[in-house]
Amino acid sequence: MMDSSHISDDLAAILVTEEQLASKTAELARQIEADYADAVEPDAKPPLLVGVLKGAVMVMADLARELRIHVEMDWMAVSSYGAGTKSSGVVRILKDLDSDLHGRHVLIVEDIIDSGLTLSWLRENLEARGAASVEICAMLRKPDAAKVEVDVKYIGFDIPNDFVVGYGLDFAERYRNLKDVAVLAKHIYE
Ligand code: XMP
Ligand code: MG
Repeated sequence: MMDSSHISDDLAAILVTEEQLASKTAELARQIEADYADAVEPDAKPPLLVGVLKGAVMVMADLARELRIHVEMDWMAVSSYGAGTKSSGVVRILKDLDSDLHGRHVLIVEDIIDSGLTLSWLRENLEARGAASVEICAMLRKPDAAKVEVDVKYIGFDIPNDFVVGYGLDFAERYRNLKDVAVLAKHIYE
């Protein structure tokens, strides 16, 4: 029956609505436009938005379209070693960037910071490729789950330490297409 049911039947609560995501995205875009207008030399290449697949697809699509400056987009897929839902800090690149980062201003676009292990690894990795700057924009953050401090310049919402889905975030590859960010009902994962 699960396949024929409506997504909303599986949700315990809506945490961040579509409207809240949209207005936060606009707010972040205004900050990013202002910061990069100052940072990027007129004849330099535009900032490179690096999206982390698959979760950041929705954030990237909305943020990029909200920006009124030139940007380029590229994608990486990474995976933490080890099974389960816990990040290990050991990261494997499943799909690398197409772009050369030398001298580029890079903005990593992420859906969520949980332990922070993935992003702190990713930032170091991209910095080591000779980027002029590497900053992070993440729509969600779970402060209570932090294992390492990550310096995030652009943050959407701090949320409680619950497993969340929607707006790109999945549970077993489902729910990414939900427009809001929601907490799953217990009967789905227990
Ligand atoms: P770390 O712990 O390294 O992990 O910051 C970040 C990655 O873990 C995934 N993640 C989640 N995915 N709901 C999800 O659907 C969550 O509540 C959640 N918390 C962490 C996500 O892929 C993120 O990039
Ligand atoms: Mg992710």
